[in-house]
Amino acid sequence: MYGMVNKSVQALVTTTFGIDKWESIKRKAGVKEDVFLSNESYPDSITYGLIGAATEVLGMSADEILFAFGEFWILHTAREEYGDMLSSAGRNLPEFLEYLPMFHIRVALIFPNLKPPRFECSNRKADRITMHYFSHRPGLSVFVRGLFSGVAKLYNTPAQITQTKFKDKGDDHDEFLVYWGDAAKQ
Ligand code: HEM
Repeated sequence: MYGMVNKSVQALVTTTFGIDKWESIKRKAGVKEDVFLSNESYPDSITYGLIGAATEVLGMSADEILFAFGEFWILHTAREEYGDMLSSAGRNLPEFLEYLPMFHIRVALIFPNLKPPRFECSNRKADRITMHYFSHRPGLSVFVRGLFSGVAKLYNTPAQITQTKFKDKGDDHDEFLVYWGDAAKQ
């Protein structure tokens, strides 16, 4: 993955837990790089290694870290560094989600080696939408739930995000119901 992803993991850890924890995580993951370059591609194994080491050093589950990372990616990294791209993708939560299938096509114009996820939408109602997530990378569905949660917070829209199909339990892809109706406000 592009270095911006590892840099974002670094920012999440250092701002929440401090620089010493980050150094321990890097050491445990066997990462030699002093800095990650945003525009350079790194093996996915580095990102997975950092997440794995973070579970041990921080005493958190992989799901807790991946969810927090999803929210952080949207509310900090994407908002601060790619704000124009983010805000031009929709005026509200449903518009953003409907645009998501196109989103990484634009990202790939800037980052040509991108191996992006694929999203599809279905069953759009006034208060809900079903989101389908396809990836050749394993184990990231909780990250996606964190991303959707971050997007809902970005638009100050209370939402419930429920995973309804699970690739790691034999479904052919991961599926999520995003609901922003009145019951989500309570
Ligand atoms: C300006 C905002 C964004 C940028 C610049 C961006 C960029 C990237 C990059 C560089 C990667 C790593 C893939 C690679 O390097 O080959 C990635 C992966 C990913 N992105 Fe985005 N992204 C953005 C917003 C979003 C949003 C809004 C979502 C969903 C709500 C999303 C979902 C994902 C997922 C799930 C992955 C993991 C890769 C996979 O599943 O295979 N991204 N993105």
